[in-house]
Amino acid sequence: MKDNYQPIGVFDSGYGGLTILKSIIEQLPQYDYIYLGDNARTPYGSRSFDVVYEYTRQAVMKLFSMGCQLVILACNTASAKALRTIQQNDLPLFDPSRRVLGVIRPSIEKIPQYTKTGHVGVLGTTGTVLSNSYPLEINKIAGDRIIVTQEACPMWVPLVENDETSNPAADYFVRKNITNLFNKDPEIDTVILGCTHYPLLLPAIIKYLPDDVLLIEQGPIVAESLADYLVRHPEINQKCSKAGSRRFLTTESVQNFEPRASMFLGSPVNAEKIHL
Ligand code: DGL
Repeated sequence: MKDNYQPIGVFDSGYGGLTILKSIIEQLPQYDYIYLGDNARTPYGSRSFDVVYEYTRQAVMKLFSMGCQLVILACNTASAKALRTIQQNDLPLFDPSRRVLGVIRPSIEKIPQYTKTGHVGVLGTTGTVLSNSYPLEINKIAGDRIIVTQEACPMWVPLVENDETSNPAADYFVRKNITNLFNKDPEIDTVILGCTHYPLLLPAIIKYLPDDVLLIEQGPIVAESLADYLVRHPEINQKCSKAGSRRFLTTESVQNFEPRASMFLGSPVNAEKIHL
C-alpha cells in the first residue's frame, strides 16, 4: 500500500455494516474504504459488555494499523457498548488525533422532527436494547417529550447471517417482534431500525409494519452525517485518502463472505481473511 493510503474504516460484527457502507459510498465515493466484518464471532447482540468492547477494540486497532485515521462503528451493539470506552480510554492513549464514530447519535438527531405522536419505537439487538442507548440519547435532545419503547429481536441477526431472510421463519420472527412492539405502545408513529443488519429483512418488516408508521433506516442518515462531519472537520477530512478504493476484510472464510457481501453491497467483493 502507498504511504498516503489512509482509508475510512467501517466495522461491523458481520454483514450488516455493508448496508451502511453502501449508503456512504453512494454519497462519498471519492474516499478509500476498508470494511471489516467480524463474521467468525458474530452475533455480538447477546454478548456481554466486556466481550463486545474487547472484540470492537481489537477491530478498531486492526483498522488503525492499516492506516485508518477515522473508523465508523457501523454496528449499533458496538456503538452502544464499546464506543464511549474506546473514545474516552483507548484513543487518548493510542493516538488522540484518530477518530471513532458510531451510528446511534446520527440516527436519533432528526427524530423530534419526524414523530407527530411523540411515541417512537426501537427495534434492536438484546445488547442494544439493554444498554438503553436509544432512550438515553433521545432523552438528551427531547427530554420527556418523546416516549421510547424498545423491542429486542434476538433472532433477526442470525437469520441475516445465515441467509434465511426470505423463508417463513423470518416472517414468523419479524411479525412476532413488530406485534410485540405495537402491543407495548400502539401510539408509535416512528420506528428506528436500530441494527445495521435489519435492512436486509426489509421486505418482511414492511409487510408487518402498520402502513402509517415511518421507518427510519440508518444507512442514508449515517452517510449524510459523515459527509457533514467531514465538512465540519477539515483536519480529519484532509487525512482521509481519496483514491476511490475499496478493501474488504473478514474473520470468516472468504468463500463464505464474498458472495453474500457482493449481494448486500450490490457490487463484486473480493475479500481477505484476517485474524483479530
Ligand atoms: N449489525 C449489528 C448491530 O447493528 C448486529 C449486532 C450483532 O452482531 O448481533 O447491532
